Amino acid sequence: MVDPHELLTLAVDIAREAGALARTRRGEGVAIAATKSALADIVTDADREVEALIRARLAGARPGDGFLGEETDAERGTSGVTWVVDPIDGTVNYAYGIAHYAVSIAAVTGEPVSAKWMPVAGAVYDPSLDEMFSASLGGGAWLGETRLAVGAPSPAGALLATGFGYDPATHEGDLARVRRVMPLARDLRRAGAASLDLAYVAAGRLDGYFERGLHPWDHAAGGLLVTEAGGRIGGQPGDAPGRDMTIAAGPELYEQISEAVYR
Ligand code: IPD
Repeated sequence: MVDPHELLTLAVDIAREAGALARTRRGEGVAIAATKSALADIVTDADREVEALIRARLAGARPGDGFLGEETDAERGTSGVTWVVDPIDGTVNYAYGIAHYAVSIAAVTGEPVSAKWMPVAGAVYDPSLDEMFSASLGGGAWLGETRLAVGAPSPAGALLATGFGYDPATHEGDLARVRRVMPLARDLRRAGAASLDLAYVAAGRLDGYFERGLHPWDHAAGGLLVTEAGGRIGGQPGDAPGRDMTIAAGPELYEQISEAVYR
């Protein structure tokens, strides 16, 4: 039996420590260490160092758990819990000196990302603003001590966010989707950190979010924040968020975004 609250306490503690390290390294100056699959797919030494810290802390606290992180090899566990980690989500912002980035840590049960995938605890920590977004299955979504609920969009239009996949071949499709969704919007953001986009939907700072091409570490913790705040996340047949499409919003707007995305 997993205790989501216990997993969440661990995720929050480690996210705070990892965020402090990311903030310190950013203050010392950040260089791009490597470009991976595409120009926008980069890694800094800080991404690697922060992931190593998170991995070591998790292994120390719960040696039987699996691990799936953005920067290192995945490892299967024996406990039925896997940690899904983005050490620095928003690496392009981070590397360019833009303060909008986050540490994202989720505990999931079931194979990531299968039909049985189930995030049970998640922390998204913004070190720049010292904001800790957290959620556990059945325990609600929180910003610090404040319980979160998705917003009700103004009839005048919703504040939406999106992102663009790494692969330039997908950009035409991304832009066509933006054109179809824009009539729903008061305005649109491309802020550059998917976990914070999702946390902001949970907090009612954004009404909705859609993006193609996310990885599990981008949406695992943020997705739980959205559902625990009364929203919906999905996008693919079967309604799991995933590589093909992730949509997050309150239930009514979710349907409208989904209709526009797939029109
Ligand atoms: C990226 C950011 C970005 C989103 C990309 C992600 P990373 O994560 O969340 O906002 O548009 O799809 O891959 O690479 O900075 O960890």
